[in-house]
Amino acid sequence: MPVEFERAVPERELFPEYSSEFIRDERDPNRFQVNRRVFISDDVLALERDRVFQRCWLYVGHASEVPGPGSFVTRTVAGQPIIMTRDQEGHLRVWLNACTHRGAEVCRERKGTTRRFRCFYHSWSFSTDGRLVSLPDAEAFPQGFDTEDYGLRAPARVESYRDFVFLNFDPHAMSLHDYLAGARQYLDITADQALTGMQVLPGTHEYSVRANWKLLSENSYDGYHAIPVHKTYFDAQRLKGDDSLGDVRTEFKESGAYHLGNGHTVTVKHGPWARPVARWRPSMGPESKPVVEESARRLAEHHGPDYADQISNLDFNMNIFPNLVVNNIMAVIIRKYEPIRPDLMHVTAWSLAPREEDDAATKVRNKSFLAFLGPAGLATPDDNEALESVQRAAGHQGVEMWSDVSRGFDKDIPMNYDEMHMRTYWRHWDALVTDRASVGDSLTNDQVEEVAP
Ligand code: FES
Ligand SMILES: [Fe+2]
Repeated sequence: MPVEFERAVPERELFPEYSSEFIRDERDPNRFQVNRRVFISDDVLALERDRVFQRCWLYVGHASEVPGPGSFVTRTVAGQPIIMTRDQEGHLRVWLNACTHRGAEVCRERKGTTRRFRCFYHSWSFSTDGRLVSLPDAEAFPQGFDTEDYGLRAPARVESYRDFVFLNFDPHAMSLHDYLAGARQYLDITADQALTGMQVLPGTHEYSVRANWKLLSENSYDGYHAIPVHKTYFDAQRLKGDDSLGDVRTEFKESGAYHLGNGHTVTVKHGPWARPVARWRPSMGPESKPVVEESARRLAEHHGPDYADQISNLDFNMNIFPNLVVNNIMAVIIRKYEPIRPDLMHVTAWSLAPREEDDAATKVRNKSFLAFLGPAGLATPDDNEALESVQRAAGHQGVEMWSDVSRGFDKDIPMNYDEMHMRTYWRHWDALVTDRASVGDSLTNDQVEEVAP
């Protein structure tokens, strides 16, 4: 179903004036500020670990990463080692990667296929469905020792939507379906690029940024910085023949920013760049033109012209609160990031593509992905330098500094280069860390209905 962009109530009427030690949400005049202590304080990070990462749904991975029985990947989620695997029956399973004996990681490989996870410390072995299936010298354990009590432990909740797998450490959390709220439509647009399902392409981007993790939430859908910070990229594209880029400001005008509920937000636009799924541009080279046009034709045939047009041409940057970004622009990138310290985050990013995509189109996609969004591309290093610069300057001793996030506050319809989406993020974040509302209360479901596309 195509997303409808209707919106009635401006944010300044939805949210009453409010201040905490972290945010100032003011009226007459409208002003929104964030205390820069949130980027440097150990106490704030401790609150986040407890009230954000222990309560929100957190992205684990994409089901395509574990295609068949016994396939697995390991990674951390909120700092916890996790295994995502498929058991011999083919069911997707998520386990805490911690041995029930004395706690070592039972799997130390990044990915692979196995029938058993054998802990290297004392050789206890676990099946992919989590049972403890063997241990050396079992007879030495006391009477009544029962292997059934020692299966791998799972996070409290694991649920998925359109192959995006999430976990929640809180057994009482709302369902993932409800939590995602308006974000579901954008995951739909992403998943529907493929007729046979999307898959994560080989190759993972991993890097650290010496900056607070929330700075990447802000940056990932900050349209305001695109022209000053990414001038190198736009200049390079222009050299490759994309004359449309001369018009970047005009093209970006067709844009908007939307609340999606529960702190999730999206910015949409029709960007000037190439999109391998179905928008050819000269920078892709003439040989790829028929491939891209064929992809557009197939989508229109399958989904009808309106929805196919959105799948093909709607660029968006979505933040799923708290730490997942889906950038559906010149490639589709899923990016998750976690705090290590207040001034250090770890970022992991994957590229998603339709399973049926042919090699030529995937080549174009990989090139676009690497040219702009890769850690050595023409955008990400510039973004990271901006974030590290903010971080370096955030700790002026004895001087209280506030960041201004007011752009577009007076507008009824904010644009992607305004800062409404960041205010939404910060309001929700503040509600959680100050424990004044449970997840979702900072925007009620009725309000989401009114303002979400
Ligand atoms: S800690 Fe795993 S077998 Fe001992
Ligand atoms: Fe950027």
